[in-house]
Amino acid sequence: MTALEFRDVSFRYGEDGAFAIENLNFSVEEGEFVAVLGHNGSGKSTLARLADGLLTADRGEISVFGEPITEKTLQSVRKKVGIVFQNPDNQTVASIVEDDVAFGAENIGLPREEIGARIAFALGAVGMEEYRTAMVSRLSGGQKQRIAIAGVLALRPKLMILDESTAMLDPRGRREIVDVVRRLNEREGVTVLMITHFMEEAMLASRAVVMNRGEIVMRGAPAEIFRRHEELLTYNLALPRIGEICKRLQAGGLPVSDTLDADALAEEIAKCVS
Ligand SMILES: Nc1ncnc2c1ncn2[C@@H]1O[C@H](COP(=O)(O)OP(=O)(O)OP(=O)(O)O)[C@@H](O)[C@H]1O
Ligand SMILES: [Mg+2]
Repeated sequence: MTALEFRDVSFRYGEDGAFAIENLNFSVEEGEFVAVLGHNGSGKSTLARLADGLLTADRGEISVFGEPITEKTLQSVRKKVGIVFQNPDNQTVASIVEDDVAFGAENIGLPREEIGARIAFALGAVGMEEYRTAMVSRLSGGQKQRIAIAGVLALRPKLMILDESTAMLDPRGRREIVDVVRRLNEREGVTVLMITHFMEEAMLASRAVVMNRGEIVMRGAPAEIFRRHEELLTYNLALPRIGEICKRLQAGGLPVSDTLDADALAEEIAKCVS
């Protein structure tokens, strides 16, 4: 089944402004993990907001698990899609972890026992069980973001959208989030759309797209997209340092494969020269 489909979608914020999304065609299959890359202002967040019905398309059609988003279906669509944003501090509402995670589930009026079960499931899924009664304010950025993810998970979405949810975290926090998201995708079967500025993160997806001026300009397996690094540069995206080093080694005749992982590259070099 198709989890998310954009058909000829256009959207602009003002009547006379430029289109933030223009004639976009894009789909994500159920169970996929898709990364969205693109420089500032390319339309990534607009895409996320359209997918959740937070914004309404001016033209075209958007469907979520086969259901076109309309005023009538908005409620049902929102139940299927969860969004996690960038700033962990803007996404917490309660001072105790379990209250925070329960907030959304309480708002949709679930029975108490069900909420309890969902809190346990969501905290388990993000590896934060032992923080159930902790103060949110005492947590690290990565932990807060995991709590934000748990709050969304408690609503049992089938599609999870992360809009640069690792951007404000340190490397360790970023790794925590990426690990959690991967696990959710692999073990819980949650479909993932991950918007990120970090190519290393996009590498973990099964598929990636690059946005530029409201359009998708590159599509493919992450490794394939990184091979086209000259093209990436034209969209204001650069490979991370390790990727650049790979390219130079390849140009110099050392047959290393594309990687953004320093350890993996070191091993490859060792193999090549031994
Ligand atoms: N609330 C708004 N009102 C008017 N224009 C907006 C609004 N939000 C975004 N835009 C414009 O729409 C375009 C796409 O913005 P969007 O936020 O979707 O990009 P983005 O790829 O998420 O960027 P970033 O990487 O900075 O988060 C940009 O030109 C932006 O200036
Ligand atoms: Mg954005």
